[in-house]
Amino acid sequence: MSSTPPADFGFDAPFDRAGTGSSKWARAETPGVIPMGLADMDLPGPPAVAEALARRARHRAYGYTVCDPAGRALVARWYRARHGVEVDPDWVLLLPCGPRTALRLLLETVRGTFRPRAPVLFPTPEWGGFAQLCRAAGIPFQELPLRLTPDGYRLPGDPLPRPAAVLLSNPHNPSGTVWPTGVVRGLAGWAADSGALLVSDEVHGDLTHPGRPHPVAVTTADPEHRHHVVTLNSVGKTFNCSGLPSSFALVPDAHLRTRFTDTMAGFGLWEGGLVEQTVQQAALREGGPWLDALLAHLVAARTRLTDRLGPAVRSAPRASYLLWLDAAALGLPPATARRALLDRCGLEASDGAEFGPGGHGALRLNYALPRSVLETVLERLDRL
Ligand SMILES: Cc1ncc(COP(=O)(O)O)c(C=O)c1O
Repeated sequence: MSSTPPADFGFDAPFDRAGTGSSKWARAETPGVIPMGLADMDLPGPPAVAEALARRARHRAYGYTVCDPAGRALVARWYRARHGVEVDPDWVLLLPCGPRTALRLLLETVRGTFRPRAPVLFPTPEWGGFAQLCRAAGIPFQELPLRLTPDGYRLPGDPLPRPAAVLLSNPHNPSGTVWPTGVVRGLAGWAADSGALLVSDEVHGDLTHPGRPHPVAVTTADPEHRHHVVTLNSVGKTFNCSGLPSSFALVPDAHLRTRFTDTMAGFGLWEGGLVEQTVQQAALREGGPWLDALLAHLVAARTRLTDRLGPAVRSAPRASYLLWLDAAALGLPPATARRALLDRCGLEASDGAEFGPGGHGALRLNYALPRSVLETVLERLDRL
């Protein structure tokens, strides 16, 4: 009996991004440097997405597009198939913007709905966007340093004052920690009791490594707390299309959905959109086998690197493609570690200082690389 060989999605060979305007490669500074900073993948995305875009592009009318309600059912189907949870299609808002803008719109809505002057809380280190966004928008915020234990990160005990919202990056960027079900459920209950909103940013949630369940906040929360919870997700990180203006929010509270839609209207935005619907629908409908192959590739890369770097890994990653490292344990000067890694090894990392309190002396390395490039990275790490 013959068995079908696994599909080859081209994750082994180098993938040349020259001439594509890649922001990650623009940061590499010098020819020959391998950029491992920004969170997108040097791996080809799902063929189904490219085909859907090409098919749609061939029809040369790109006028106003209605929001296709089938897109909501597709999101619900995705959650059932990938995470085994029931999402009501009515909860789904199909957003014509990336997750960062979606967060800003949500905060705008929350501050009108919950407590306008209360701060937004979030644990740090975090991917940098929460603080950056609040600072730029003039939204008061309070950072809650995570506790680093021998078993990885833990949330601080009491989330303190009564906030307007609490933001959680789950899985956690930068460390790849998957906050467990009990933690998410507890935070949702706490948010409901404090009259705040829990915004669970789950853009790395579809990238939890095999065997690691991803607690989707809106379905993990007790049903009576659900109205104080939003899950934010996108196909951007999962399917390597973060440059496209696409995301979706799961908002169980009907009043909040209406308020959110009103906020969007205030910025001239409406649900749906040509490019984002084309990409999102192709990815969610046909991208499963590609994602399975990607996860196998990422786990293999993670294992090679964590075996090699051992104690320098601050917290063992259980999701996505990011490695959070202690510079001193790598033999790098903590204050100038990014520069030192660039000079010694020709590897460009993100500087932990950009991730807020708890990030100093750390580096974040993105290992979503073709296998052949990963081999070069491992060789260069010998220069440490
Ligand atoms: C956890 C998290 N949330 C949100 C974003 C923002 O995504 P975008 O810049 O595509 O809107 C990122 C990007 O790295 C992220 O890692």
